Amino acid sequence: MSNEVNSNDLMAICRRRGFLWPSFELYGGVAGMFDYGPLGSNMRNNIVEVWRDIYRGREGFIEIDSETVNPREVFKASGHVDEFADLITYCGGCDSPFRADHLVKPFFDNPDVLSPKELDKAFVEHDVKCPECGGILGPVEEFNLMFKTTIGPGSSRVGYLRPETAQGIFVNYLNLYRYNREKLPLGVIQTGRGYRNEIAPRQGMIRMREFNMMEVELFVDPEDKGWSRFPDIENDMITLVPNTGTESVTMTVGEAVDRKIIANKVLAYFVYTTQQLLVRLGVDPKRLRFRQHLRDEMAHYAMDCWDAEVLLSYGWIEVTGIADRGCWDLSRHAEFSGVELTHFKKFDEPKEMEVDRVKAKHKALGPKFKDKAKAIAEVMEAKTPSDVTDGKLIMDIDGEQITLGNDYFEIVRVLEKVSGERVVPHVIEPSYGLDRIFYSVLEHAFAYDKKENYTVLRLAPEVAPIKAGVFPLMEKDGLDALAMDIYAKIHSPSVEAYYDGSGTIGKRYARMDEIGTPWCITVDYESLEGPDKGTVTIRERDTTCQKRVPADSVPDILRSMLCGKLSFGDL
Ligand code: ATP
Ligand code: GLY
Repeated sequence: MSNEVNSNDLMAICRRRGFLWPSFELYGGVAGMFDYGPLGSNMRNNIVEVWRDIYRGREGFIEIDSETVNPREVFKASGHVDEFADLITYCGGCDSPFRADHLVKPFFDNPDVLSPKELDKAFVEHDVKCPECGGILGPVEEFNLMFKTTIGPGSSRVGYLRPETAQGIFVNYLNLYRYNREKLPLGVIQTGRGYRNEIAPRQGMIRMREFNMMEVELFVDPEDKGWSRFPDIENDMITLVPNTGTESVTMTVGEAVDRKIIANKVLAYFVYTTQQLLVRLGVDPKRLRFRQHLRDEMAHYAMDCWDAEVLLSYGWIEVTGIADRGCWDLSRHAEFSGVELTHFKKFDEPKEMEVDRVKAKHKALGPKFKDKAKAIAEVMEAKTPSDVTDGKLIMDIDGEQITLGNDYFEIVRVLEKVSGERVVPHVIEPSYGLDRIFYSVLEHAFAYDKKENYTVLRLAPEVAPIKAGVFPLMEKDGLDALAMDIYAKIHSPSVEAYYDGSGTIGKRYARMDEIGTPWCITVDYESLEGPDKGTVTIRERDTTCQKRVPADSVPDILRSMLCGKLSFGDL
């Protein structure tokens, strides 16, 4: 068996067996768009469940589901309207669009960081022409990747399809913070579609225009980037490619933090969590590494970023970005919305501190507002200096909005006993590309026997779309009834089984191996009579070994093997 994969062969199996179909094939297809078939949907859901098991189950994070169409304000604040662009060039001859940095890949280690002018120059210096027609390439310019739309009829309210699910979490920060009883750390997860109008999607599922994300946003105290469970993993190994120019290095997670290769424990913990997740899903640890972004490669919001990269037939491909987004998102949404998005950090003991307060000028308020002056002064002094905009305070007094300038108040510095302070939380974000992970798992599970022309997907049982094939040796003499009975007992939405009574038994095993089914149950004549009456065989995909087990214990055996409590060898 060889593990060498040709992505075209794998995609052909995916299409034939119902994992994936190019979208809108009926109308000629659209590049960068795929539909998940029945097996693909199952497998994708299984991947999401493993991710949930780690983040909701083990880490105790909470999950939300926010809108995919967002008003422009959200992405203006997040920086995507101004910054979320790739560099494009059009051929002067055939007008085909290209990602400019991709055209100069053979000449630069990291073409991502080149400016439009540097790319124009590189086209001339390296004689880069249109790959389609050999024409001269036009000037390089920015192309925003967001799909634009309008919300409601007319064009009054501009919206965008979200390019990341993360913003839905940031704009809900106050709701989530209250739900978490105003405590940090606050971990929130969300899975759903992201949309990017990619310039030239060419590598199958690697670059899609509508894709699935599993995002995690962890809000932490900016002065405490530790993690209570860090000691559990600090002695485990990880392979890193730091941005200091060194080759990849393998070391313990603890050493990576001690040597300041990864900046803090919480980031390191989630880099390692990502390794745990990917390996549990079936990514080969030898074909997995974590590469730190170069300073000028980082997204506009990131202070630091490590990409989980998987070695595929396309080369090393990013499947997850683990970023320290610092206070970027909450500060920007606070600035653009005018609403404070902070955490109140209690001190262990109250401290005497100098603080700035709003103080009413009673001498000015009294003559102007007479009997209302007292109420205004109270509301005024409950405000903080951060509520003052352009020297003015806006107040709601008995349902009436009153705006007053600094003739009526002053900011004074006073010594007070304070119990805590407001801080803007920092965000650590592991952002998982579900489709790229799905594809990586398939490639790493792929094994092919050229001589026999036999393909097996060695998928992890919890990821496999079908957990068990159930076969009667023949569809007669009561073998089929017993097989049907076993099938009905094991099949459920979480343990998908497949009944197959047609073709030779060898062909039926081959069909299940090709889609990664870990076990097959066969009912034969010994199941009905003789010393082994009441037993069936169970076959393991990867060894092709078979064992006899009591028919009525099959559902329990499968469940135990699925959750790892029992191995095939123990049977
Ligand atoms: P790339 O540099 O490959 O375009 P990116 O750095 O823009 O990726 P992120 O913005 O970090 O990617 O997005 C988080 C994750 O979402 C990525 O690690 C990847 O798995 C996935 N992803 C991003 N863009 C796409 C896409 N066009 N198609 C499929 N998955 C994607
Ligand atoms: N949320 C990470 C990204 O989309 O880049």
